[in-house]
Amino acid sequence: MPHCDDLAYRLNPCYQPRSEPNSNRHLKPIPNTCMSDPATEAARRRTFAIISHPDAGKTTLTESLLLAGGAIHLAGAVAARGEARRTRSDWMKIERERGISVSSSVMMFEHRGLVFNLLDTPGHEDFSEDTYRTLTAADSAVMVLDAAKGIEPQTLKLFEVCRLRDIPITTFINKMDREALDPFALLDEIHAKLAMDTAPIYWPAASGQRFAGMLDLEADEFVPFRRLEAGESGFANLERQQRGDGDFLDGVSPEVRSELEETAELAREGFPKFDLKSFREGHLTPVYFGSALRRFGILELLEGLAAYAPAPREQHASIKGVETDVSAARDEVTGFVFKIQANMDPKHRDRVGFFRVCSGRFRRGMTLKTAAGKPLNVHNPMMFMAQEREIADEAYPGDVIGIPSHGGLRVGDSLSQSGDVVFRGIPNFAPEILKRVRVRDPLKQKHLRRALESLGEEGVTQVFKPMIGADLVVGAVGALQFDVLDERMKAEYGLDVLFEPSPYQAARWVSADSRADLEAFIEKSISQMAEDIDGAPVFLGKSAWEIGYVREKNPKIRFGDVKER
Ligand code: G4P
Repeated sequence: MPHCDDLAYRLNPCYQPRSEPNSNRHLKPIPNTCMSDPATEAARRRTFAIISHPDAGKTTLTESLLLAGGAIHLAGAVAARGEARRTRSDWMKIERERGISVSSSVMMFEHRGLVFNLLDTPGHEDFSEDTYRTLTAADSAVMVLDAAKGIEPQTLKLFEVCRLRDIPITTFINKMDREALDPFALLDEIHAKLAMDTAPIYWPAASGQRFAGMLDLEADEFVPFRRLEAGESGFANLERQQRGDGDFLDGVSPEVRSELEETAELAREGFPKFDLKSFREGHLTPVYFGSALRRFGILELLEGLAAYAPAPREQHASIKGVETDVSAARDEVTGFVFKIQANMDPKHRDRVGFFRVCSGRFRRGMTLKTAAGKPLNVHNPMMFMAQEREIADEAYPGDVIGIPSHGGLRVGDSLSQSGDVVFRGIPNFAPEILKRVRVRDPLKQKHLRRALESLGEEGVTQVFKPMIGADLVVGAVGALQFDVLDERMKAEYGLDVLFEPSPYQAARWVSADSRADLEAFIEKSISQMAEDIDGAPVFLGKSAWEIGYVREKNPKIRFGDVKER
């Protein structure tokens, strides 16, 4: 948690340069006089997610960012190297076998008086639903690209998820220490494929063996790159060089020097200048370059996040039926659960709800209520999960705390002191693959139901109970979700299950203005009707075509492919 003697930074693009090397040029420190009102604390929070294609360097960047933060707290699926990676992720075999990070995790670190909450997202497209939920808890995202590859398929998919939520995106072009694509081509690709303006904040001096550093385009200062020695700690930045000083571009070969001067000038003319409003609205992305592995460009990226990324935003909610925006300054503690994770510690069977605080000052021991009025005494909230849990004595807007729960908490649940606040926008997506699930041992039918319900509450799968017949239908957005389900059924519930093809290919939540119309439709279509985990009616279609046909024949019925909770 933040200490009283920390420095807070003012959020304003007009910060004065500081003279120390590696300093946050835009950031002027102001003393934080030990205030802990929610608005002040919220202003110094940056809650962001990292999105990237597997192998672009998300894990390495995460480690470098944590290093910059000093106190490294790792949670959940953050992969460590080698043996450590295998041990840390032990709780989920599937992750180890496939080398992918399946579940999201949360990390908090401090840097120069700001508190950063980093939300990790699964890199694999089959878990985009999980990513979406995590992004509901993030105020901005960092998109990591491999400089030699540019936009890769998964980058695009994750970006689209961000766009759905209008999340501002900062771009980090990684691996500049390797031969990279032409930076103009990279920025043009972002512009063309993501339909976003690109504003380079720095411009690289060559790449690979010739990589010499980068030019701060606005300040016209050069940040020289130095290769870290093996085992060397810290960052690879040298002192900035100012144009006009004798040492400007000192040590940079004449060839790279003239290339840099020429291309930087073209970049200044050719790309739009950074514009805060445009960034915040998701129309423009500031672009940073660097190497996560060589720990270069990391401090500059953090500086960018500190100066430009939004502090906790207002969250749309309904309070006693009235639609409103909940600001971080609201006195009452409010927030929502965006993820439930089980078995974070293999030694203790447990379930933890990841709760994003939206307003107020949370204190340990508080009683929060669900929107259904159910009280929850939060005695042991965790600041960080997995191997390095810490008890959270307090938390502020933008923070994510883990609430241990033995059932009862679901993804999408709103919690508040009054129990009157319901946050909008944590959806369930209609599954794209549906399967019938059976347990090999028929005596374990009841266990199966309970296990599926529990995993359904976690959001691992969607469970549909057909209104006629006994076999449950499970749905997933991506095929790998079934593998996770299978694995966890075995490991945690001792159930050997069979997934069989289902006659259905699509599921839609049905609703209508009139209860009678809905009931009539359900009765008429009972053989294809099911209930989801909350008891909401779902129509199971044999094909997308059939859904279209049934929709046309039943104009009073709404067929939703997203269910907001
Ligand atoms: P991910 O989480 O996005 O999947 O990527 P991760 O950080 O695991 O990085 C993928 C590979 O790219 C790793 O190499 C990592 O060391 C390398 N890498 C990351 N950032 C940089 C960089 O800035 N420069 C260079 N040259 N390489 C980088 P690996 O060989 O697959 O793994 P490891 O044996 O190093 O763990």
